[in-house]
Amino acid sequence: TLKALLYSALAGTAYVSYSLYREANPSTQVPQSDTFPNGSKRKTLVILGSGWGSVSLLKNLDTTLYNVVVVSPRNYFLFTPLLPSTPVGTIELKSIVEPVRTIARRSHGEVHYYEAEAYDVDPENKTIKVKSSAKNNDYDLDLKYDYLVVGVGAQPNTFGTPGVYEYSSFLKEISDAQEIRLKIMSSIEKAASLSPKDPERARLLSFVVVGGGPTGVEFAAELRDYVDQDLRKWMPELSKEIKVTLVEALPNILNMFDKYLVDYAQDLFKEEKIDLRLKTMVKKVDATTITAKTGDGDIENIPYGVLVWATGNAPREVSKNLMTKLEEQDSRRGLLIDNKLQLLGAKGSIFAIGDCTFHPGLFPTAQVAHQEGEYLAQYFKKAYKIDQLNWKMTHAKDDSEVARLKNQIVKTQSQIEDFKYNHKGALAYIGSDKAIADLAVGEAKYRLAGSFTFLFWKSAYLAMCLSFRNRVLVAMDWAKVYFLGRDSSI
Ligand code: FAD
Ligand code: NAI
Repeated sequence: TLKALLYSALAGTAYVSYSLYREANPSTQVPQSDTFPNGSKRKTLVILGSGWGSVSLLKNLDTTLYNVVVVSPRNYFLFTPLLPSTPVGTIELKSIVEPVRTIARRSHGEVHYYEAEAYDVDPENKTIKVKSSAKNNDYDLDLKYDYLVVGVGAQPNTFGTPGVYEYSSFLKEISDAQEIRLKIMSSIEKAASLSPKDPERARLLSFVVVGGGPTGVEFAAELRDYVDQDLRKWMPELSKEIKVTLVEALPNILNMFDKYLVDYAQDLFKEEKIDLRLKTMVKKVDATTITAKTGDGDIENIPYGVLVWATGNAPREVSKNLMTKLEEQDSRRGLLIDNKLQLLGAKGSIFAIGDCTFHPGLFPTAQVAHQEGEYLAQYFKKAYKIDQLNWKMTHAKDDSEVARLKNQIVKTQSQIEDFKYNHKGALAYIGSDKAIADLAVGEAKYRLAGSFTFLFWKSAYLAMCLSFRNRVLVAMDWAKVYFLGRDSSI
């Protein structure tokens, strides 16, 4: 047994060392060029965004077949499923990001990256205007494309509720997580300087989350964990006064989950003392109070010290701008695509994936965006083949060769299947080391809840991390919290 243990430890160390070496030492890449060795044009594929959809495409794409250009204001990929764990320090932000350049450098063909935002797409002339607002590096330029993939994600939806932008924090980006942490810590410190009888102290210690979707639920759960598991040790009296409230307009939270799991989560929230306000629609926010309408039509004021707003997605400006340019784009909810992820009205040169799109049956999740990216990588392999056959046709010697090539084109086109989403299920962390899972395996459905599901949740997210480096860092963060707890500093 000792020998077996030693061999497994050695094998484990060798695997870890090899994986880390591979990640740190990329191989040489095929450089970009105007033409292929046979003289045909190498087309330009521009990818907007560095999120779930775009990075999945980039990772799976044969980048030697195109001049690939990535444009994104964020020079890293963010593993959003663990973002709710970051404001309270369960997971460090650095553990869930992966630089775009590292991802690009691992592919076989050279990839150009611009840290910039696309703001205007011209589908007629196949150009995009991009601008960078980075400090000391602001520029504005036009890029030409043959194929464009729009994977710009979505922005937080406020439904026009007054005061949300001014006073609340969203939970979508790294900067949001940092802002929430700062607000939590400064609220706690300010409250600590006031007398327990001061109503201002109670306000500062009221942490409110609006939106009972998975983002709001997971963050409320993390917040309660932090207060009960860590803050309690360092500030025992004050921690008892902290109130976590989750406000949801509908009669229950987590609408995409099975009813049994919803009830399980709601019961746990009651036990954990998360104040669940169902059928309560927030109407207005000011610097200290949210005003909401309850199911009975009453108006309720809830004072808050920290307010996190998580009520779903709305299209970004660049997507809205693109919608105005194409007659077929008549939905306000997102870019309309066909079953091959082609943008309606863009004649096969623009594709859209992920949260920026709206398509019945495709939800705005990482799972969908990831599978769409994988699909497009295969699509572009076929598109390259068709482009090559078309080029050969323009150089054909006689009519019989043209006919043969035409047949091959038709055959290749028929091989491009529609995108089919394979739903594997949904997972959510609900606090106190418990999670829920609504799994789909083929036709069978499984509902799991509790501490064992939390272990499953952890292993699923570890497996989904983008790189080996991320996996190691996330596992270390969990171990650190288990043995040493979360820290209470900035
Ligand atoms: P994103 O991942 O948002 O990426 C968009 C990219 O576009 C970003 O790189 C952005 O910088 C870039 N961009 C923005 N504007 C421009 C522009 N003008 N030009 C160029 N680039 C631009 N889904 C799950 O399935 N499971 C989960 O557990 C889960 N947890 C989540 C937790 C949180 C806190 C959040 C907020 C979301 C979670 N989601 C989860 C949803 C999931 O993150 C999204 O569905 C997914 O990120 C969508 O991928 P995307 O590529 O469309 O957009
Ligand atoms: P969401 O759209 O899933 O939920 C938003 C909630 O806010 C809704 O329940 C809505 O009724 C409520 N709401 C809206 N306006 C309100 C108001 N004024 N007052 C009170 N409540 C209000 O949004 P979320 O959680 O940001 O998720 C966005 C997407 O990301 C979803 O598709 C979700 O599935 C996905 N996601 C998945 C996760 C997971 O699988 N674990 C985790 C986080 C996000």
